Amino acid sequence: MAKTWKTLLIYRIMEREVRRSAAKYLTGRLIDIGCGTKPYYHLVAPGVSEYIGLDRDRPFNKAAKTDLVGTAYEIPVGDAHFDCALSTATLEHLAEPEQALRECHRVLKPGGFAVYTVPLIWHLHAEPHDFFRYTKYGLAHLFRKVGFDVVEVRPMAGFPTTFATLLCYYIGRWHRGPLRYVPVIPLIGLVAQGIAALAERLDTTEEWTWMYTVVARKPMDADVQHREAA
Ligand SMILES: C[S@@+](CC[C@H](N)C(=O)[O-])C[C@H]1O[C@@H](n2cnc3c(N)ncnc32)[C@H](O)[C@@H]1O
Repeated sequence: MAKTWKTLLIYRIMEREVRRSAAKYLTGRLIDIGCGTKPYYHLVAPGVSEYIGLDRDRPFNKAAKTDLVGTAYEIPVGDAHFDCALSTATLEHLAEPEQALRECHRVLKPGGFAVYTVPLIWHLHAEPHDFFRYTKYGLAHLFRKVGFDVVEVRPMAGFPTTFATLLCYYIGRWHRGPLRYVPVIPLIGLVAQGIAALAERLDTTEEWTWMYTVVARKPMDADVQHREAA
């Protein structure tokens, strides 16, 4: 996600969430699946020993900072190669999410954490490679189905943030051509985001979050054996 006048508020929230998750769960050798331009590298890299960005041979963004070319379905490393995984705003672009999560599970060491950010309410983007939106129940179901333990599924914000940001994208469509020199459109967007930031302090609803953070853990081998025996 690029940092522009439309994304100031959500960028701040995303950075806060990624920083929090990284401090708690991400250590050792990390793979960033669908890394794009690695927008959160500066927050995550100091806490890990190695930061490997995986993306397709033709990523959406030409400025992608890919270290490892592959796909979320076929990561070109052996089993249990990574200590942890990060994947931001990518799962909705995968036509076969279950297959991708299974592959993430394969390349993680037992006990390793995976941190994903996944949208619930967001407009179409990167078309035609935009396949799904996820509820927290759907996410928990998918991660469990491929063998992860779900540690948390956290909504990032409520209605005010989602509404203000979608409004920014909506009015942002007019901020082009000769109108791009008219500051009133970004100004409306910035005011909307400012009001939303204040309203978020009062609003604790989560049904309208634009994005979730999912933290999942690959169980230790002993845990799996114990469950199979039970
Ligand atoms: C919306 S961008 C997110 C990029 C970055 N993670 C971020 O947060 O800004 C989605 C990324 O997923 C990548 N992607 C799409 N399909 C993929 C696949 N099958 N395997 C790996 N990466 C994929 C795209 O190339 C793109 O970089």
